[in-house]
Amino acid sequence: MAIYSATVTSPVNIAVIKYWGKRNPSLILPTNSSLSVTLSQDHLSTRTTIACSADFESDRLWLNGVEEDISASKRLVNSIGTARALRASEEAKNPELAPLSQYKIHVCSENNFPTAAGLASSASGYAALVSALGQLFELPQSTAELSRVARVGSGSACRSMFGGFVAWRMGEKEDGEDSMAEQVAERAHWPDLQALILVVSDKKKAVSSTAGMQTTVETSALFAERVRSVVPARMQAMEKAIKERDFAEFAKITMQDSNQFHAVCLDTYPPIAYMNDTSHAVTRIIHAYNAVKGYTAAAYTFDAGPNAVIYAPKSEMRDLVQLFSYLFPRDEDVLPEVFYTNPFGLVGAEEVGQTVSDPAVRKLAETVGKFQAGAVRRLIHTEVGDGPRVLDQAESLLSQSGMPKRARQ
Ligand code: DP6
Repeated sequence: MAIYSATVTSPVNIAVIKYWGKRNPSLILPTNSSLSVTLSQDHLSTRTTIACSADFESDRLWLNGVEEDISASKRLVNSIGTARALRASEEAKNPELAPLSQYKIHVCSENNFPTAAGLASSASGYAALVSALGQLFELPQSTAELSRVARVGSGSACRSMFGGFVAWRMGEKEDGEDSMAEQVAERAHWPDLQALILVVSDKKKAVSSTAGMQTTVETSALFAERVRSVVPARMQAMEKAIKERDFAEFAKITMQDSNQFHAVCLDTYPPIAYMNDTSHAVTRIIHAYNAVKGYTAAAYTFDAGPNAVIYAPKSEMRDLVQLFSYLFPRDEDVLPEVFYTNPFGLVGAEEVGQTVSDPAVRKLAETVGKFQAGAVRRLIHTEVGDGPRVLDQAESLLSQSGMPKRARQ
């Protein structure tokens, strides 16, 4: 049987100016613009293969080896439907094109990071879905235009359509035509910037972003001020800081915006608390670290959960990995196999959790004191990355007959 297929990988992004609030929940139109850094796909990415054929009987989806019901997700139905409509209009213009828009599809998607890490996978997931559909259907739309399709899957996904530093312009139009992502600077513009993700243990189940932000829009008085004046000014200042590679300014705005986002969550009624004691300790440690260094050396940011993402120049990473692995000992009993992978060769295995080389940082570590083992489960060290990548047939997750090559329970 004739099968058409495409395979891509897409990156995770972590916002430095947060998206929080929708003015139109069904089209996923935000109340404010936002800005993020795309992280390297070598460490965090979603791979997706989509195949279509006249012989497939229904649309099917496998996520990390488990079959899911596509029709149960309005967001999946919307983004696939939008891509099909774009293909259909090309087919209407050119009768020689195979009628792929009529065919059923098989979607197979896997993350290269553990789902248990609690890292947002919807952004990389929907960006991968839409990039693969764009590829499969040979859509002529630009990446910015396709980011609108990713947006209807999950708001933050539109920013994963580009590498480097990416703004999501909120737009003004009611139909959302001008609400899309735009690259502010390429990855190569600021290769010195790296990120260290602290995967923080948490027992409680977080309120989903989708539900949480809606309650914020409806109940928070602080939120109105954030949307009206704070974010527009920060977007400008952040773009300038990125263009000038001004880390001190980048870091200050990043930390302030994370803090305000969580303040707005607490101002939501009933309040939403995403950060836990470990998260708050990390903010204090970063401010103390900057004070010890005598300059702004690192910045934290937190999304809708307790994990910390630390942005810092490469030259700070050895000290930061040593500091955090000393303060947050690994729990030998519960631990995943890997605690820190040392992808850039900056920190020797014997240093992790043992040595803090810099005397001033060591003094800080001793003053703060070690936390309970396992409070941080994992350190993921990564850097700024590129946008979605198209892979060749050999990398497909689906076999010749369009079924998953690997299926898990
Ligand atoms: C805190 O994009 O997950 O990570 O549009 O409802 O799918 P939906 O929400 P989502 O929200 C992300 C919120 C955030 C901040 C950000 O990424 O900008």
